[in-house]
Amino acid sequence: MLKPRPCVSDLRAYHSPVSDPSLDLRLDLNENTTGCSPRVLARLRSLDAKTIALYPPREPGEKLAAEFLGIRPEETLLTNGADEGIDLLCRAYLDHADEMIIVTPAFSMYETFCQSAGARTVRVPSGPEFSFPTEPMLQAITPRTRVIIITNPNNPTGVAAGRQDILRVIEAAPQAAVLLDEAYFDFHGQTLMDQTGKLPNLFIARTFSKAYGLAGMRIGILAGAREQISVIRRIPSPFNLNVFALACLEEALADRETVTAYVDQVCRGRESLQRELAALGVKSWPSQANFILADFGAQCDALLETLHRQGIALRKRPDIPGAIRITIGTPQEMERVTGAIRQFMQSPAVARQVAP
Ligand SMILES: Cc1ncc(COP(=O)(O)O)c(C=O)c1O
Repeated sequence: MLKPRPCVSDLRAYHSPVSDPSLDLRLDLNENTTGCSPRVLARLRSLDAKTIALYPPREPGEKLAAEFLGIRPEETLLTNGADEGIDLLCRAYLDHADEMIIVTPAFSMYETFCQSAGARTVRVPSGPEFSFPTEPMLQAITPRTRVIIITNPNNPTGVAAGRQDILRVIEAAPQAAVLLDEAYFDFHGQTLMDQTGKLPNLFIARTFSKAYGLAGMRIGILAGAREQISVIRRIPSPFNLNVFALACLEEALADRETVTAYVDQVCRGRESLQRELAALGVKSWPSQANFILADFGAQCDALLETLHRQGIALRKRPDIPGAIRITIGTPQEMERVTGAIRQFMQSPAVARQVAP
């Protein structure tokens, strides 16, 4: 057995739930369950053998993405999902003994990328009701802080941070790359993209995996000041996006109708799930994303098992005892999952335990 770098041998393996074929309703990974734009599918089907045989240039896609975001192509790096953008940022700025600050609970890949860069993660707990902990974040900044990640809205809570609070953190850490992860931007509508290039240490990550229904295609964007992006651009393969992703980007960006319809569906589904949970006496947090975090307390594991037996996958968050994250699906899917939750919560054994 070869000896890996110590920071790599200490990494925990990511166990993907995707591989369980018995589950026919997956509401555990915040995917778009309605699928991608039909225009994307048509472009995909139109590709010929010669196009697929060639290495795909990234630059035309970056021009399109930049135009769409209202920034310059030099401020735009297309990445293999937002994941790659986060990894590249960690590899560009984190060295041994450096620190990365995140707000917990957090998207799990941040720590993986930080650790594999050999650096240390500083975890700042969310405030009351998972609010953004502005003051503790400011206090956590030290000369060793080289990366700060703010997820807005946050995953797994769905709770959003305010613009002024984020700006205070960016301004307080000029020596650090501040990554604003806007993976769920489309469901919230608030962004700091207008500050790209104006704040030299601000980076913004976006993904096509959620609102655009392209998780399988792996397309993300890392936006930031030109000087910084030109450095980060040295790290990835020039062909980090495959030909399918690059060919479909134009159609994905152009089809606003499909994205808007999906976002509307999510907003309606989010509201009715929240109402449904409240009626069952289950606490949930106000989400600005395409999922809801709910507190099932002592019933958490039994509920997950019961739904699993019915082919429904939800996401347990072991770092928040009792909490389950539920992706918003189509109205039919939501009817099925809420029906299953209702049946479980109203079963005599559970109802006896949760009765006041
Ligand atoms: C907050 C956050 N950032 C980034 C990602 C990764 O997105 P992608 O599929 O583009 O790599 C996810 C995926 O769930 C996420 O929740």
